[in-house]
Amino acid sequence: MVLGGSKQQRFDLIVSFSDDPIGRLQTDGQQKESPMSRIAYILNGPNLNLLGKRQPAIYGHETLADVEADCGRVAQELSLEIKFHQSNAEYQIIDWIHEAREHASGIVINPAAFTHTSVAILDALNTCEFPIIEVHISNVHRREAFRHHSYVSLVASGVIAGFGTQGYQLALHRLARLIDEAKK
Ligand code: DQA
Repeated sequence: MVLGGSKQQRFDLIVSFSDDPIGRLQTDGQQKESPMSRIAYILNGPNLNLLGKRQPAIYGHETLADVEADCGRVAQELSLEIKFHQSNAEYQIIDWIHEAREHASGIVINPAAFTHTSVAILDALNTCEFPIIEVHISNVHRREAFRHHSYVSLVASGVIAGFGTQGYQLALHRLARLIDEAKK
């Protein structure tokens, strides 16, 4: 269980359970391939449903459907199965994180404004024993001071910000690498 651990502790835990990250070893010691071993949840927070229409000078012209299609293509190359979701409701994102902790091997999350406010999303992510990559389309560090703090970064394996919607694809590449490393 990773509850409120530091980043270093979290990393150690990921490495230490990599012998059997999601129950791939059967009781007789034989290796079995978990059917869930390459599922990645891609979660998007509030207002990202308006991507393409919303402040295009900051967030670009691509829609969330375009992002989902791009992620689908990259996921195929990486042999990942993705579950792509967006919600404006904090509880819904938490429920998806709970679902992911049972079925997935990693999360890519753009929590949008919840990044800067949500202890509840941090707490939910802290129940997950797999890699989490935080994505921001814009370079939040070049923007208002309130965007410089992220609760989610406390639990994220890494953060990608300022690469536009390409950040999601970069995050999937990193996630696939971390999933592969956890299997070794
Ligand atoms: C964002 C950055 C957040 O500060 C903002 O509230 C968003 C989007 C991004 O992708 O750049 O809604 O997460």
